[in-house]
Formats: sequence, C-alpha cells, structure tokens
Amino acid sequence: MDTRETERTMDALGCWRRTHTCAALNQAQEGQEVCLMGWVQYRRDHGGLIFIDLRDRYGLTQVVFSPDLAPKAHERAHVLRTEYVLAIKGVVRKRPDDMINTKLATGAIEVYVTEFKLLNTAKTPPFPIEDRVDVSENLRLTYRFLDLRRTTMADNLILRNRVSQAVRRYLDEQGFLEIETPVLTKSTPEGARDFLVPSRVNQGQFYALPQSPQLFKQLLMCGGLDRYYQIVKCFRDEDLRADRQPEFTQIDMEMSFVDEEQVMELAEGMMARVFQDALGQELPLPLPRMTYAQAMAEYGVDKPDLRFGLTLQDVTEVVRGSEFKLFATAALVKALRVPGGSELSRKEIDDFTEFVKIYGAQGLAWIKIKEDGWQSPIAKFLSDAERSGLTTALGLEPGDIVFFQAGAPDMVNSALGNLRLQLGERFGLIPEGSFAPLWVTDFPLLEWNPDEKRWVAMHHPFTAPKDMQALAQNPAQAVARAYDLVLNGTEVGGGSIRIHNPETQQQMFAALGIDEAEARAKFGFLLDALVFGAPPHGGIAFGLDRLIMLLTGAKSIRDVIAFPKTQKATCLMTEAPSAVEPVQLRDLGLRLREKPKE
Ligand code: AMO
Repeated sequence: MDTRETERTMDALGCWRRTHTCAALNQAQEGQEVCLMGWVQYRRDHGGLIFIDLRDRYGLTQVVFSPDLAPKAHERAHVLRTEYVLAIKGVVRKRPDDMINTKLATGAIEVYVTEFKLLNTAKTPPFPIEDRVDVSENLRLTYRFLDLRRTTMADNLILRNRVSQAVRRYLDEQGFLEIETPVLTKSTPEGARDFLVPSRVNQGQFYALPQSPQLFKQLLMCGGLDRYYQIVKCFRDEDLRADRQPEFTQIDMEMSFVDEEQVMELAEGMMARVFQDALGQELPLPLPRMTYAQAMAEYGVDKPDLRFGLTLQDVTEVVRGSEFKLFATAALVKALRVPGGSELSRKEIDDFTEFVKIYGAQGLAWIKIKEDGWQSPIAKFLSDAERSGLTTALGLEPGDIVFFQAGAPDMVNSALGNLRLQLGERFGLIPEGSFAPLWVTDFPLLEWNPDEKRWVAMHHPFTAPKDMQALAQNPAQAVARAYDLVLNGTEVGGGSIRIHNPETQQQMFAALGIDEAEARAKFGFLLDALVFGAPPHGGIAFGLDRLIMLLTGAKSIRDVIAFPKTQKATCLMTEAPSAVEPVQLRDLGLRLREKPKE
C-alpha cells in the first residue's frame, strides 16, 4: 500500500474523536452517527460490500463499506489488511434478523462507513491475533505487544486491574496507608539469592534488590504508621517454574497491635472482596483452617489442594512385621487409595512410577483390588492379617487401586502428595472453575538444612515463635506464629506475627547460628528500631501474579504479567539481560572475569 495514503502526520486524527469503543454499540444507537477507532481483525468482500471487523481492547464491531453509500471510502477499503489501524465515521444500522450474531456484544448492529482515515498500516503479524493461537510461547514473548492484542491476554490484565483496585479500595477503607519502600536496598532474607546492583558512587559496593519489603514494613510499624500496604515488585534470583518469576508482585501489608487472628480476619476479608469485585463470587468466611501437621499427614504437602478428596493414610503399624522388607523397616509407610483406580494400565502405572522418582522415591508399590482377589507385584509378601488390616484401615473395595510409599517421611510425603495431584487430574476429580481456599497454620519455626548443617527459618528470621521455651530447648518442635493462605494447591500468601523485642530477636539469630557481629552487620537497623519501643506487629504478603493466575485459570504466571521473563530469566522482546559497554563497567569499577557469551 502506498503509505502516502495513510494519515501518518503529526496529527493523524485531525479533529476526529472516538465516540464509542468497539464493544459499545447496540440497537439503542440505531441511526446515530458514530466514530470508532481500532485494528482490522478480518476483512471480507461480499456481494459488492466490504465487511471489516474492527477490534479494540473492548471488543469487535462489524463495519461495512458500501459502494452506494460512500463510493470513495469503498474504493479505498480494498487495500485494508489485518492489523491496519483505522478511524471510521459511519451510521449505526440494525442487522437483518438472519445476520444477528448473538455471541457478540455488538452482534445486533453494524456501522455503515461514510468516511475513514487509515491511521497506520501493519506488516503481516508473525501469528494471528486470535483467542487461541497455536504458536510457541517464545514467539509470543518476542512480539509481546502483538500477543497483548489477543482477547485472552487483555482479559487477564483487565482482571488483574480489577483485583488491584479491589485491594486498594478495601485496604483504604480499613485505614491502611499505601507507602513505597526502596528498591535499591540491602539484602532481605527471604531465602532466595539476591539480585545485586553495583554502585558507581561507592565503587566495590552493591545494593540488593528487595526479595520483599519485609524489614521496611516492620520499620514502618516502628515508625508508628500502624497500617501499611503496597502493591510492590519483589526480586528473587531462584530457579523458575510455572508459578515463579524473578520479579513478581506482592500485595504486601503490615499492622500494629494485632495478633494472628486479626491479620487473618483482615486478609480473608480482602480475599472475599477480591472474589466479589473481580469475579462476582461470594467467598464464604471464615475460611477453613488446617494445621501444618494435618496438611502433611493427610495431603503430604503444606499447600493441600482441597478441590478433591484422596487423602494419604499412615499404615506404618499395619505392615510393621511384613515379609516385605521395605515395609517392615521403613520409618513411615503411607497409602493412597484411589476408588475406581484399578482401570489404570501398566503403562500408566509405570509413568507414575517414573513421576515419583522426581521426589526421591526408588519405586512405587501398588495393589489393584479386583473382584477375584488382589493383583500386585507385592501381594505375595503380605500375610492374611496384613491384608485384612489394610482392608479395614483403608476401607478397600473392589475396583480400587492403592499406592504405597515407604521410607524417610519427607520423601514419602512429597512423593505421594504430588502423585495425589496427578491422580486428581487423571481421574477428572478436579471440578473446573472451583476454588478451595484454606489457611495453613502452626508451621514449624525452623527447618534443618542438611547442606549447611544448621537450622534455618522456615518463613524468615523475624517470625515470632509460639513458645520461647521450645525454641531454646527443642528447636525441631518450635512452632511459628505463621500462616499461609493456600488456594487450589498453590501458596498465594504467607505471613506471621513478628518478633518485636530485641532479646527474642537475638535468641532467634542465635538459634539460626547468626552471631551478634553478623546480625549487626546485616540487620543492625532493625535491632536498633526494636530497642526504641517497637509495637507488637504482624502482617502478610500475597503473590498477586499467582492469585491472578488462579482466578483466570491461566496455566502459567507468565500469562498474567504484561512483560514476563522466560524460564531462563530473559526477556525475549527487549533482549534483557544484555552486555554493557566497557565504559559502563569502568565507571562502576568492574571488570568481567570471562568474556560475555555472544
Ligand atoms: P513469601 O516469601 O511467602 O513471604 O512471599 C509471599 C508470596 O509471594 C508469592 N511469591 C512468588 N510469586 C511469584 N514468583 C516468585 N518467585 C515468588 N515468591 C513468592 C507467593 C508467596 O506466598 N515477607 C514475607 C511476607 C510476610 O511475612 O509478611 C514474604 O515475602 O504467593
């Protein structure tokens, strides 16, 4: 097309003003003159007429170029291609009854064009701008600006906005102040690796990007601000998965003079508002609760998916004396009974066996309960007493399959807990569009890190213990005043009541093997604040991206972030990260040990 025909001048619109979006018109505007602007979705030539679906973020409107009504416009319309950008003026007409499209908001009308401006041409896009596209995610990420034109992507961001606004409204009503905290800061311990930023002014020194605003929000409480929140970027250099990004967004909040009940009540109130305002769904409150111990016992994980049943059962004692040596000697033996599961093929069972190896299992024992007896590689090792013990304990019935895992408790729980999720999918037990939120409480305060041979904080080192004595006498048994909000098997939020006196904080550091000098160097400013009258305080942070992923049903967190990173932490569109000029390194006082990869 001759680009001179486009209106690519400084003022392409002239005095034209949009009167409606592409989703706004219906029979009520029949006969009105309107002006629409948007992109060409499709062009069809039909019996002398040219039809164009004009698209914007809001929807589609069919516009018609007729040689009788506007011969010049009709003539020029022959050059229009997909993704060209148009402004049209025209008249709204009711469609003939047999042409009404009930699936489209504007499906009862069409706009007969009287004149139009071609605002821009477009190259043929590398993939069609349609709801479902069968192209690689990498291509979509390289041309993210085109990908965002697709309705599914725009809808995700629209819902994300609705959630953020609902959160802001709710927290504002509850007296929270939105306060920004620094991005160039010092390391914050949330358990991941830091992203570092070299300082030019202070050569050889580095800022860390915050893994969360944890310390700053505590300091805001020490500053007397009482109720803080922020929708804030956090940065963690960790292995990426479908629900993890190196930079992600938290709804972060903190409150003074509260206990865990008050934080949880406020946070679930916020969740209910989000469900109401964003999805129009009621979330019955209070949300169910489960202790960490119960979650591990019944679901094998600390973030149980309660959308379906299938719980794990401890059968250690039932098979204690078994001839099957693995069962007889294991620290823990657990079973997972799947009603109707005996239809599984050998191939499927083999695949599940491979799957549990990811979690450190050596294999996967199973028994199919058939009308005519038990079918299983291990059945021959089980005595009649063990068989009847298992039948009673598990309530076995013909048609069932039972999976077993025996060994170290951590392995048994994670292997069967994750197998449970696979089986839920395989047997279609997960109702589509359903939400099962719950609080998980009473987390251990500490966990043993076998590599570093020391205790580390399960949440972070500022979490208050339920009982100081346990921390001193039996760290493994110490329980944290911490709580996680779990939705459909994903941790969407986590928080705690914090330590607010300096002695307890010192004891906590001691339990973690952090000596005074290290504590001062890393968190001196927090320790200083605690001695100047810190109020009791606590809070929580929600992963906004994860929450939106669950609310939209997106498969990956990347689908609800406008410009996400790949699994390799790169941005395919901007090509970040990238090499920098030697002079920039020199300014920072840095030299690379190895030549950067091309
Ligand atoms: P936590 O580390 O549990 O707590 O983080 C809070 C929530 O943030 C989300 N999240 C992530 N989302 C996407 N990508 C990631 N890499 C990622 N990491 C975490 C999760 C998680 O539940 N300062 C504490 C909160 C507090 O104690 O108040 C904190 O950051 O949904």
